[in-house]
Amino acid sequence: MPVAADRLARDIARIARCTHSPGGGASRPTFSPAWREACDHVVAEAIAAGCRTWTDAAGNIHLRPAALDPAARVWLSGSHLDSVPHGGDFDGVVGVVAALECLRAAHDEGRAIPLEAIIFAEEEGTTFGLGMLGSRGWAGTLDAAALAGLRNAAGDTYWEAGAPHGAQATRLATERLTPARYLGFLEAHIEQGPGLWAAGTPLAVVTGIAGRRQYAVTLGGAANHAGSTSMQDRRDALAGAAETIVAAETIAGRVGPRVVATVGRIEVQPGAVNVIPALARFTIDLRAPTDAEVAAADGLLREAVMAAATRRRLEAEIEETERLPAVALDAPLAARVQQAAGRLGIATLPETVSGALHDAAILAPFVPTVMLFVASRDGISHNPREFSRDDDVAAAAAVLYETVRNT
Ligand code: GLV
Ligand code: MN
Ligand code: MN
Repeated sequence: MPVAADRLARDIARIARCTHSPGGGASRPTFSPAWREACDHVVAEAIAAGCRTWTDAAGNIHLRPAALDPAARVWLSGSHLDSVPHGGDFDGVVGVVAALECLRAAHDEGRAIPLEAIIFAEEEGTTFGLGMLGSRGWAGTLDAAALAGLRNAAGDTYWEAGAPHGAQATRLATERLTPARYLGFLEAHIEQGPGLWAAGTPLAVVTGIAGRRQYAVTLGGAANHAGSTSMQDRRDALAGAAETIVAAETIAGRVGPRVVATVGRIEVQPGAVNVIPALARFTIDLRAPTDAEVAAADGLLREAVMAAATRRRLEAEIEETERLPAVALDAPLAARVQQAAGRLGIATLPETVSGALHDAAILAPFVPTVMLFVASRDGISHNPREFSRDDDVAAAAAVLYETVRNT
């Protein structure tokens, strides 16, 4: 078998050591030293396998066999190496090392396969407050000015932080993704849900990606004394937020079985033990497999915020910070992946829809795109306990290799 499971396992272990929280999971913000170290490992491996590498204007790193004609149409495959704070060792990493392994396997076999691997910059959205920045910048769905408005925890804009790594606003308009240059995009990724692991199935083919809306909600009340203000006289912004958070859970369950709503961040002012909260600012992340469900939940969430605000005499502001539609992936490419799996003796892969977002959702409107999921132990992800089996990761890489080399 040209794809080597032990080599992939070594990559994953090596990249896991690139973290700002040793012993506490993967903390690899985009453009940080740990992220750079992880990218450098992949770049060095690709160069040793006869590739040339470059960084596009949006900060994505490309790896392509030097022997290929630069004008040749190729498959694109990869994912991301940035992580959420204290994340796991497999999210994004699996898709990058699977594509890398295909390049190495081809090199070992003396073949020039039509494949370009890619490391997308800033998929997670936790470094600059918005996700999939590298793929959006490259695809042209986010322009240089929008990226200039995003800052990391150090206060640096995307362009300031990305400059030492090759990202450059002035090249963005001319270095866009040219769809005609690619046969399609294949992203291997861990499932991040329990389905495959529970069924004892290593792989699935992904037919769609859920839509997502995100919001920043601000509720304004009045600071007052915690001891001398009666319960009726309060305008407690945090109590209004608490009501909304519980309502969001109920609404998600009511709209559909795969509709999910999460409040992951909340800030309270003045934030003192004996002061009624004057301000609560929190995020809502809403996702559903269909746009109709997203729209229905959106309406109910807005009503819930306004109802809590009215009842408690609070000012309310709802800012929509992101809107991404649900995406259907490419059926003919999914069939091609199934055929490749069949040639390897793998039974028909189950089909699934991804609740998590991926760079594949950004590329899908431009090039035929499909994803391959690898079983996640107990469905745990965005957590240091995230785990997938070496053999399952290798099976994904083997399916990828078989799909790409038979072009
Ligand atoms: C990416 O991990 C997402 O939030 O779906
Ligand atoms: Mn991911
Ligand atoms: Mn993630």
